[in-house]
Amino acid sequence: MQAYRAQLLRFDAQGQALYDSDGLLVVDGDASGVRRVLDAGPYRTLAGRHPQVPITHWPERIIAPGFIDMHVHYAQTDIIGAPAAGLLPWLENYTFPAEARFVDSQYAAEVAGVFFDELLRNGVTTALVFPTSHPASADAFFARAEHHGLRMIGGKVLQDRHSPDGVRDETEQSLIDTEALIRRWHGKGRLGYAITPRFAPTSSEAQLRGAGELAAKYPDTWIHSHVAENRDEVTWVRELYPNSRSYLGVYQDFGLMRRRAVYAHCIHLDDADRRLMHDTQTAAAVSPTSNLFLGSGFFDFEAAMARGVPHGLASDVGGGTSFCPFHTMLAAYYVGREGQSKPGLSLSPAQLWWLHTGAAARALGLEGVIGTLQPGTEADFVVINPKATPLLARKTARAQNLDELLFSLIVLGDDRAIESVVIA
Ligand code: GUN
Ligand code: ZN
Repeated sequence: MQAYRAQLLRFDAQGQALYDSDGLLVVDGDASGVRRVLDAGPYRTLAGRHPQVPITHWPERIIAPGFIDMHVHYAQTDIIGAPAAGLLPWLENYTFPAEARFVDSQYAAEVAGVFFDELLRNGVTTALVFPTSHPASADAFFARAEHHGLRMIGGKVLQDRHSPDGVRDETEQSLIDTEALIRRWHGKGRLGYAITPRFAPTSSEAQLRGAGELAAKYPDTWIHSHVAENRDEVTWVRELYPNSRSYLGVYQDFGLMRRRAVYAHCIHLDDADRRLMHDTQTAAAVSPTSNLFLGSGFFDFEAAMARGVPHGLASDVGGGTSFCPFHTMLAAYYVGREGQSKPGLSLSPAQLWWLHTGAAARALGLEGVIGTLQPGTEADFVVINPKATPLLARKTARAQNLDELLFSLIVLGDDRAIESVVIA
């Protein structure tokens, strides 16, 4: 058993932020060796309940749940900031050539190492990750996640058409490989497998059908793809799948919408799509830095909330421009504010933070497991230094309330503010 004393930020199950200016987080290992939150709250009320427990004291630091990145491509770590006229030329000119290199498993292992170092420097403790179509790229990802003891989800990308040599896979073999990888990695320690068709344009109907069959056979795996990111992409899908009601409807038609199904972007949707997401408990991974960088559009937070679409935040590196959760939350604020192409609203800092922790956990079907620091959950947390830079120190010293403190971090914070990360 071990306790940590600092300022403490956590969330209740409804997403309400709870803050103790002098807090205590008590953790204890379970039978499998994973450390869980035993108790959390104000130091003055908790200290007497746990008199024998050794306490690590971090004065003037903030303990908060580890961040959760709902959609990120580890194989695109080296193409952050590649400019293009839009999604489709970006894929063709930068992404596919970069991903073709992952046929080399040594190269995949090297990039996986860099990727996890970046996640941890930025306080991200769980992510839903795209490797590439090469099975060895998924092995490299899982092996490195296991090495760090992280709760991580990913899976070999499926793309058997409209993809160049070097990344295109073969329909039947891709499904055999996927099932073998599920058996090798899903539920091993803290790892989870995601059945990962890249997006509807790069999968044949047979591949999507096979993916849906695997999703039914292994119902606690994840499903991970992209939808309705870019208008040219939406037009292309309409041509390829004329019988589906909408782009999202393609996934519905192949059995790819259910709890633990996660779609990046979800920008160009209609209300029938949103209702379908609500009814099937399919989640949106909102990727604001990517959408701004590639000029894709603006996620409609108001419509998502009104329709009860499960959603949370994501970096979408390398379309996204940063691994840093503060940068993603700030971009989500900008996107929420945009009020010309959809209703504009002002997301509160506590709401933004929830979208990158507890709401993301819930959208991933991991509520009660990570993301809140509630008792019983796994103790993945970050230690934030609110004085990491001169301007941040000046600003946070003047904060009158929790919203002002969190907004200062969101607007001015970066990886320098993540002093350390503690993995359950
Ligand atoms: N759609 C299909 N593939 C990708 C990808 O790699 N990144 C993004 N942002 N969208 C995609
Ligand atoms: Zn993506």
